[in-house]
Amino acid sequence: MSSPATSQMSCKSPQVSIIGAGKVGSTLTQRIAEKNLADVVLVDIVEGLPQGIALDLREAQGIELHDSKIIGTNDYAETAGSDIIAITAGLARKPGMSREDLLQTNTKIVVDVAQKALAYSPNAIFIVITNPLDVMTYLVWKTTNLPPQKVMGMAGVLDSCRLQSFIAMELGVLTADVTAMVLGGHGDLMLPLTRYCTVRGVPITELMDGATIDRLLERTRNGGAEIVKLLQTGGAFFAPASSACLMVEAILRNQSRLLPAAAYLQGEYGIKDLFLGVPCRLGCDGVESILEVKLTDIERNALEASARSVRKNVEIALASLH
Ligand code: APR
Repeated sequence: MSSPATSQMSCKSPQVSIIGAGKVGSTLTQRIAEKNLADVVLVDIVEGLPQGIALDLREAQGIELHDSKIIGTNDYAETAGSDIIAITAGLARKPGMSREDLLQTNTKIVVDVAQKALAYSPNAIFIVITNPLDVMTYLVWKTTNLPPQKVMGMAGVLDSCRLQSFIAMELGVLTADVTAMVLGGHGDLMLPLTRYCTVRGVPITELMDGATIDRLLERTRNGGAEIVKLLQTGGAFFAPASSACLMVEAILRNQSRLLPAAAYLQGEYGIKDLFLGVPCRLGCDGVESILEVKLTDIERNALEASARSVRKNVEIALASLH
């Protein structure tokens, strides 16, 4: 006979649905499954693609030794009851394209897939990965009517871990010993906060001269474009998938982790009704709180410029929906 505690136990594992089985979506599926974080349902509009990726990953299970279920499908019904929906559907950049060049096409795709996913998972937390990131995150929130804390965009973690890597590469230190913080929009106007970048607590301003720091910040701003130029066939996907996976883990494990994410601002940093990269505590309710760090006048002006640019594109995207 089972004890009362056992009989009340839920048999359902956490489930993450990933919409878009391209480079980012398939790599994110692999990361989540191999870390045994959740079962994954991978959805794409192209028939066979998510099924093939799911089967390929399933066939590695005996070596990777995880027990996550992986389903590939074109049918949103299979995503029902997901805890998290990660949206990667849409076009990726080609050389010479900015993230904003993707605006019109990805607006339609992202709004459509968010509605379809929401219909089967009304309680899910949405993580948006499709670019232009801050705009797409706003559209998902606006068109789903979800509470703002349940919608967030993945960019700050990626931008910060790019800067973290560049600092480590420059100094020849362990990457894990470096912390970096990048705020603002995911684009040329992102705002790396040099004062909050350290190597085991030592500010990088003590370890590098100003010109070196400026060079690394510039490389971070162009981090996505640098990869697009090298690959020629699409954008970065390993680091974006790792970054999204970190957010998934913080939510599923209720870690209350302080991570930069595109979150809905309601007056924080003097900005209203916009999604922008800010430090957030992420846990099982999504964005549990937004941390307002002190900014210098120069940093505040840069954040406001970033906000103006995102707002302009939000208006263009919203107009294109009518
Ligand atoms: N429904 C479902 N899937 C779709 C839809 C749709 N309406 N439209 C496109 N897709 C799928 C494509 O079929 C493709 O498999 O989205 C996937 C996108 O994959 P890639 O082209 O490989 O792009 P990827 O590199 O994964 O980037 C996806 O993430 O980082 C961002 O800028 C990047 O916006 C881009 C997104």
